[in-house]
Amino acid sequence: MTHIAPSFLSADIWRVAEQLTALEQAGCKYLHLDVMDGCFVPNISFGAGIIGKLRKHSQMVFDTHLMVEEPDRFIEDFAKAGCDHLYIHVEASRHPHRSLQRIKQAGMKAGLVLNPATPLCMAEELLHDADLMLLMSVNPGFGGQSFITSVADKVARLAKMREDAGAKFLIEVDGGVCRDNVKMLKEKGADLLVAGNAVFGAPDPAAAFIELTELMK
Ligand code: DX5
Ligand code: ZN
Repeated sequence: MTHIAPSFLSADIWRVAEQLTALEQAGCKYLHLDVMDGCFVPNISFGAGIIGKLRKHSQMVFDTHLMVEEPDRFIEDFAKAGCDHLYIHVEASRHPHRSLQRIKQAGMKAGLVLNPATPLCMAEELLHDADLMLLMSVNPGFGGQSFITSVADKVARLAKMREDAGAKFLIEVDGGVCRDNVKMLKEKGADLLVAGNAVFGAPDPAAAFIELTELMK
């Protein structure tokens, strides 16, 4: 089954409690959390402190996407904050194999992210080390951008690599996910689809979540 993971980045900060509670009641199991340092990406968002505060009020799986340089510096902080999945960018880690091991040692599922321009061969040696592989379908840094269509084929190729290797990681797609592409991305092999604007840009985020989920059936 493919799940929609709403991206907290696009939530209405004034109505966060109401919106997250409604999503959880609508059956939403994953919350995507975008951490940006203003260095790896040209934007700053929030960090482990805010996530720790959310953790007290939510049972969702915290799917945390680090868009930061030298992410190893913060692995322990995000474990303490209660993250379940922690992703590092292959472009931001000097030793991604070590980073993935450290994330797992800290008790979280370890995810590797590839930017749109990064070829799949950058993940090839880590197919059995990552619990999750995230393909960016926009250039990271901002919500509300358009889906880069060539990533659809990249998802299918990654699913084929997973099958050929007998690997077990989940495939996540992040950026520009919307009602026009959820079904197609599921069919290409995605297990998790991040949706920021498509959920929180709607008048009723919980209803938008349900609609996206229904469209994949
Ligand atoms: C972009 C972030 C995404 C973003 C997705 O850097 O990694 O998670 O919030 O937002 P939408 O779905 O609006 O493209
Ligand atoms: Zn993200």
